Amino acid sequence: MSKQTTTQALTLEVNGTRHSLAVPPGTPLLTVLRNDLGLNGPKYGCGLGQCGACTVLVDGVAARACVIPAGGAAGRAITTLEGLGNRECPHPVQQAFIDSQAAQCGYCLNGMIMTAAALLARCPHPTEADVRRALSGNLCRCGAHLEIVEAVLRAADLLAETGSEAAPAAAVSEPAAG
Ligand code: FES
Ligand code: FES
Repeated sequence: MSKQTTTQALTLEVNGTRHSLAVPPGTPLLTVLRNDLGLNGPKYGCGLGQCGACTVLVDGVAARACVIPAGGAAGRAITTLEGLGNRECPHPVQQAFIDSQAAQCGYCLNGMIMTAAALLARCPHPTEADVRRALSGNLCRCGAHLEIVEAVLRAADLLAETGSEAAPAAAVSEPAAG
C-alpha cells in the first residue's frame, strides 16, 4: 500500500518575499499566513468566505484567504495588511482610518482596509455609493460603517495628495537568512 502524502511543498510570494513551505494539502491560505508566516493582520472571522475579516490582495484583487487553498495562491502576488504599512509608517489608507477614528473593536478593519485599498487601486476617485458597494460584503458587528465609509473617502484624497499607490505592486525577494 502506498504511503499517503501528508504535506505539500509550496512557494508563496507574500508582501514581496518568497517563502518555501510544506503544508497539508488543502490548507487555507489564511492558516498559512497566520500560523506559518506569523502575519496576523488577516483575521479569522467566519471561515466561510462570508464576513471579509480575512481579506488579502491576490494580484491586487481583494480575496478571502479563509476559503482559498494556499496551493491556489502559489505564483501569485499576495499582499497582507502588513504589506501596506506599519505603525511607524502607515499606508495612506491606514492613516485615513486612524484620522477618521473608524473603528470600535477593530476586528473587521483588516478586511475593510484591504478591500478599500483594492477599490482605490482600480477606482481612485470613488463616490460614496462606490465605497458602500465595495464594502457591502464586509461585516462590522460594531456598526462603525459611517466612519469607515468616511475613512475610505478620506483615503482617496490622501492618496491623491501624496501620489501614493493604493495597493503596492510586490517586488519579490528572498527571505532574509536567519
Ligand atoms: S473569515 Fe474569511 S470571510 Fe470570514
Ligand atoms: S469595529 Fe468591531 S467589527 Fe468593525
